[in-house]
Amino acid sequence: MTGNPGGRWLRRPAETPRGRLGFGADYNPEQWPQEVWEDDVRAMRQAGVNIVSLAIFSWARLQPRPDAWTFDWLDQVMDLLHANGIAVDLATATASPPPWLTTLHPEILPVDHDGRTVWPGARQHWRPTSPVFREHALRLVRAMAERYGEHPALAAWHVSNELGCHNVYDFSDDAATAFRAWLRAKYGSVQALNQAWATAFWSQTYGDWQEVLPPRLAASFTNPTQQLDFKRFSSDALKDHLRAERAVLNELTPDIPVTTNFMIMGETKGMNYADWAGEVDFVSNDHYVQPGPRAQDELSFSANLTGSLAGGRPWFLMEHSTSAVNWQPVNHAKRPGAMARDSLTHVAYGADAVCFFQWRQSAGGAEMYHSAMVPHAGTDSEVFRSVADLGATLEALAPVAGTRRRRARTAVVFDWDSWWASELDSHPTSRLRYRQEALDWYSALLAAGVRADVIDAADSFGDYDLLIAPILHVVPRALADRLSAYVADGGHLVTTYFSGIVDENDHVWLGGYPGALRDLLGIRIEEFAPLPDDERVHLDLGATGTLWTDRVEVTEHDVKVVASYTSGDQAGRPAITTRPVGLGSASYVSTRLGPDGLARLLPHLLATSGVEPELSAGVGGAVELAVRTGPDGDYWFLINRTDGAVTVAGVEGEVVQAPSLATGLTLGPRQVCVLFRTRA
Ligand code: GAL
Repeated sequence: MTGNPGGRWLRRPAETPRGRLGFGADYNPEQWPQEVWEDDVRAMRQAGVNIVSLAIFSWARLQPRPDAWTFDWLDQVMDLLHANGIAVDLATATASPPPWLTTLHPEILPVDHDGRTVWPGARQHWRPTSPVFREHALRLVRAMAERYGEHPALAAWHVSNELGCHNVYDFSDDAATAFRAWLRAKYGSVQALNQAWATAFWSQTYGDWQEVLPPRLAASFTNPTQQLDFKRFSSDALKDHLRAERAVLNELTPDIPVTTNFMIMGETKGMNYADWAGEVDFVSNDHYVQPGPRAQDELSFSANLTGSLAGGRPWFLMEHSTSAVNWQPVNHAKRPGAMARDSLTHVAYGADAVCFFQWRQSAGGAEMYHSAMVPHAGTDSEVFRSVADLGATLEALAPVAGTRRRRARTAVVFDWDSWWASELDSHPTSRLRYRQEALDWYSALLAAGVRADVIDAADSFGDYDLLIAPILHVVPRALADRLSAYVADGGHLVTTYFSGIVDENDHVWLGGYPGALRDLLGIRIEEFAPLPDDERVHLDLGATGTLWTDRVEVTEHDVKVVASYTSGDQAGRPAITTRPVGLGSASYVSTRLGPDGLARLLPHLLATSGVEPELSAGVGGAVELAVRTGPDGDYWFLINRTDGAVTVAGVEGEVVQAPSLATGLTLGPRQVCVLFRTRA
């Protein structure tokens, strides 16, 4: 079961109007002399800022020595913000340990895969499993909660910061001890561990728990189940830290909701957020645009998945950027309108707060070239003017606050275990990219104008007519049964190459691929046939495949070949199959088609499942539709994905927000329009 069960949202002081969207940033006043704080708050009000995240990296300033605490500056900032009607999402300040702590206790420093110490000098240099770090961190959390638990500005707690951004994999002795305890709890006996890890291979059989290690630098490929379990353990170790901080906060301030900022974006894959989502009162996410032709699709995909992990309830966009970041090889400024479009896309998928890293661009330090709400140029700047415009837009969108996601009829399944396992080493190809394949499908759906939810594999499938499960590599028996039941009840399942291959222990389902899904799909594959980088194969569908092919044999008479290979080693063999099963169907795609190839396949899949675009033909693709639903009706977010004007025909509704919409529904480049439609 995913999603936050509590669903407690920001605590609102009595005088704050209900039903508004949050707008703000990480605020780091400790980087600036006190005179700047008044200017900050004045400009925040001008921009419509109503919430900031405070004290994220303030440990050294709050506790300059083991027994010295300096809260006075933070008291002042909290009071100042409150006096100006700005709420605070207060960090527990544990993200970056101060120099005195790492000098006194170098044993809290992480150790990398190769056995090298990760030294202080940046941030997040702590072992998730260090008892010494935990003790110091919780002492700080307690001090923060005791000091600010009653402060009227306090709206929520922000545990640490982006847990695992830099320290998810730690191979230290502390990690080894905790890994053994985790394995013991999971397997109960060394014999069961040996069985699960297939240690008969390469003479790895363990006789005692003490012999078990994290998958440190080794002579060749380390045991795959050991690697997979270490990934699961590492995610759990950070989750455990989250829970430990939360326990202190819940004890001292039971009415204040607790969150921590996830990083559902790009290839950040160490934290299983589907598993973490139930640990926070409301889900928060950070998102930075990944440059490239599919950047907007990736943003939409991430926001969509975040909304699913929030259980369809509102969530909090804790960070994104007003313009360029500083950590890509080349950092581009955002084009006019892009910041608002990005922000509103997050809102479209359920964000009830839009916040940035950070409020004022730093003059020094590692992130001084990262954009902010107030750039180096000051408030007399395009960036600040567009920030203030966005503040006004979000105010106009207040009625959207609190509304929930309206389910789509199509879903793309996203599964952390399959992500981790399918990309392990010593596989048929090292080129496979799990998230990219999922994103390719999502891009194709967007291009076809088909609204789709991105869901976790533990979510209920039954509400969807079309379920796309790309590279669903790890299929335990229970998941195979759920998929069979889904299809029998009328669902249309589509899966791809390297799916159904292993069980939860990363052991191959025997008898031919795709293992756990073989009978359902009515096909059998004896050998994989991955492609070298420079090889493409052609399909009679008019599409080309890369990366992977399979030697597919049809084993059931009712399987229909949707497309065959016309070139390469598999020429003449099936490339894509579909089989009617029960009231639904099960389809298999044996190669990587990419978004363009998938666009050719989608009409077949849509026709089979009866799914149709909700926007009129032609507009879908140019305009992305996301729907939030409230007690009286739906909010349709129409997002112009192009750099030109697009007219949307045939959609009725009351325009809630779209400043420059004069006549009809013509969206300017990168413009977003929100329509309210009462339910019939
Ligand atoms: C996030 C982090 C922020 C800032 C930002 C820059 O990962 O939480 O503190 O570093 O990235 O893009």
